[in-house]
Amino acid sequence: MIRLKTQVPGPKSLRILKGLKQKNGGWSVSYPLVFSGKGHGPYCEDIDGNVFLDFASQIASNPLGYNHPGLLDVVKGYSGRHPLKYAGQDFATHEHLEMIESLLSISPFSMDAAFLINSGAEAVENAIKTCMRKRPAAKLGISMAGGWHGRTLGALSLTNSNRIHKMGYMRFPAMRLPFNDNAADELERILRSEASPEEIGFVIIEHVQGEGGYNIARKKMVEDIRRITKKNGIPYISDEVQTGLGRTGKWWSFEHYGIMPDVFCAAKALQVGAVVARKSMFPGESGALSSTWGGGHVLDMALGIKTIGIIQKEKMLRKNKLLGEYMLGRLRDMKNVSNQRGLGLMLAFDVKDASMRDDLVVECARMGLLVLGCGQKSIRLIPPYVTGEDDADRAFDIIERAVMKTSIGGFRHTGAVCEFIHCGRHIA
Ligand SMILES: Cc1ncc(COP(=O)(O)O)c(C=O)c1O
Repeated sequence: MIRLKTQVPGPKSLRILKGLKQKNGGWSVSYPLVFSGKGHGPYCEDIDGNVFLDFASQIASNPLGYNHPGLLDVVKGYSGRHPLKYAGQDFATHEHLEMIESLLSISPFSMDAAFLINSGAEAVENAIKTCMRKRPAAKLGISMAGGWHGRTLGALSLTNSNRIHKMGYMRFPAMRLPFNDNAADELERILRSEASPEEIGFVIIEHVQGEGGYNIARKKMVEDIRRITKKNGIPYISDEVQTGLGRTGKWWSFEHYGIMPDVFCAAKALQVGAVVARKSMFPGESGALSSTWGGGHVLDMALGIKTIGIIQKEKMLRKNKLLGEYMLGRLRDMKNVSNQRGLGLMLAFDVKDASMRDDLVVECARMGLLVLGCGQKSIRLIPPYVTGEDDADRAFDIIERAVMKTSIGGFRHTGAVCEFIHCGRHIA
């Protein structure tokens, strides 16, 4: 249950947030609370004793909510052990193989190998490298307008949802397709006028764009791009970093489209980064892909393996689909919002403008609900898989109140919260 004991942020949180603002070199903006580690299901408690309903799920990286008993057991099993991080590509642990096998068991049958790494961006980076290695004549990659793939320079070159992420950083050559039914025509045009198939390293796509606005790809667009890439032998990479591991009601978002990528990337909910493909797609030479920690954080891998097991045992794919449909129904009934959309537990809606969106994020947090912005003027709802309809109702009641409040002309939030709130513009 939501419980607010102090202002948001509370005094203990405020002290730490101020310190981070001053000393964290990567500071942008943050959520106005500091997590205590306490919590249950979709509810989390901050160090001031406030309890929030979390519909941000640590940006889709916490699928099972707080203190799931199955995951707590895994953590207990590793207490008294050190190190928990091994130089995993060179020094093997059994968790490494188990994680790969677990991942392959929920992947298309023909995808029979995976490479583990630390983060989503590194998964994308290594998917790019995997494709490029196979295509020595390749000179550029193709991504979608509004796409988001991470912050390492390769992944960032393919990202183009918001200028702030890229300003001042060098890029490798990339071209864009519009994220609509004209994509296939543009790809044909590029192939006709700009580059031969061999010069194109890959096409990368999120079937539900994350940071770019929770835009759901239309089936025709995906089928057309896949048909053209297949015909021309251009590898198709599905970025499943945000959509993957059951969030959309299927293990991977490409399953909604009846297509098969050549390579896909996972991370976030999986707890480790991963590139999945046919073994023959990966470079044959030892050392072509590697890293110190990749495949080496044994606790992360054990938690990822258990997460897959819990999703299977508790039949969460179906549950996510049903709860998603329920939430979309509630979303469609809402007034003063537009463009309500959703696939499984990736839902979003638009409000009047970016300023109202930012106010809405703040007001929801002040009423005990954590949500994130995305795109130009959207709010995304990403509840953990352990959320019930009653929790969703509670969230919608808050959102409706917040929408009413922030719709009033001239509304602006004030107070310490403004210094820290995440307004949704700079986060993946
Ligand atoms: C679709 C997508 N790809 C890649 C990334 C990069 O993942 P990470 O932040 O773990 O590097 C993210 C999230 O940031 C994402 O949402």
